[in-house]
Amino acid sequence: MVDIADIRKEYTQGRLDEETCAPDPITQFHAWFEQYRETNPPEPTIMTMASCDENGQPWQRILLLKGYDEQGFVFFTNYESNKGQQLAENGKAALHFFWINMERQVQIQGEVEKISREDAERYFHSRPRESQLGAWASAQSRPLQNRQQLEDKFAAVSEQFEGQDVPLPGYWGGYRIKPQRMEFWQGGAHRLHDRVEYNADGNGGWQKQRLNP
Ligand SMILES: Cc1cc2nc3c(=O)[nH]c(=O)nc-3n(C[C@H](O)[C@H](O)[C@H](O)COP(=O)(O)O)c2cc1C
Repeated sequence: MVDIADIRKEYTQGRLDEETCAPDPITQFHAWFEQYRETNPPEPTIMTMASCDENGQPWQRILLLKGYDEQGFVFFTNYESNKGQQLAENGKAALHFFWINMERQVQIQGEVEKISREDAERYFHSRPRESQLGAWASAQSRPLQNRQQLEDKFAAVSEQFEGQDVPLPGYWGGYRIKPQRMEFWQGGAHRLHDRVEYNADGNGGWQKQRLNP
């Protein structure tokens, strides 16, 4: 075994107090997200999304967060991808943000819904044309013979839609994760981290509590 057990670091950057956390987790997320953005990270909207297949096997992958509000957290993808099939089977998902330079993580658990076609159209057409064509070229998560097959498909769809707007593919759109639980974690010295959890109370409000690290 490669012994890396003595790689360790103390977390000393800040504290999180359940008393001063916002009453709702979206406001708290917004405050932390804005603070993170101010540090100019290379890809501020990056997050991990986990879903489960029909055997209960968890899968995860990096996605880009494209918007959030009280309704939930939105990302875009191919509805026929592995994640799309898993979400069709089991509508529960989790998001994870790790902001290492601030010694923070945020977890979100909840149920997904597809966003409206209208909202998907708006976002799809705001993307660079090549990315729109890429959505047509890629049968995401399905096997490919080789790289050339993908490039040939890209060239074919580029030709097909030449001189016209690229339409939104029927299999492409957005999901919204509607949070049931959110947790904010701030690293602390001696592994005495701060954790504040919010649970939806079922009436549109939130219960907030501190957790052991
Ligand atoms: C930085 C980064 C951003 C990504 N953003 C997205 C995204 O917004 N939507 C998406 O479908 N895949 C995105 N991907 C690719 C996914 O991680 C994943 O490979 C793909 O969605 C297929 O996942 P699946 O087979 O589990 O469905 C991104 C990957 C990286 C590394």
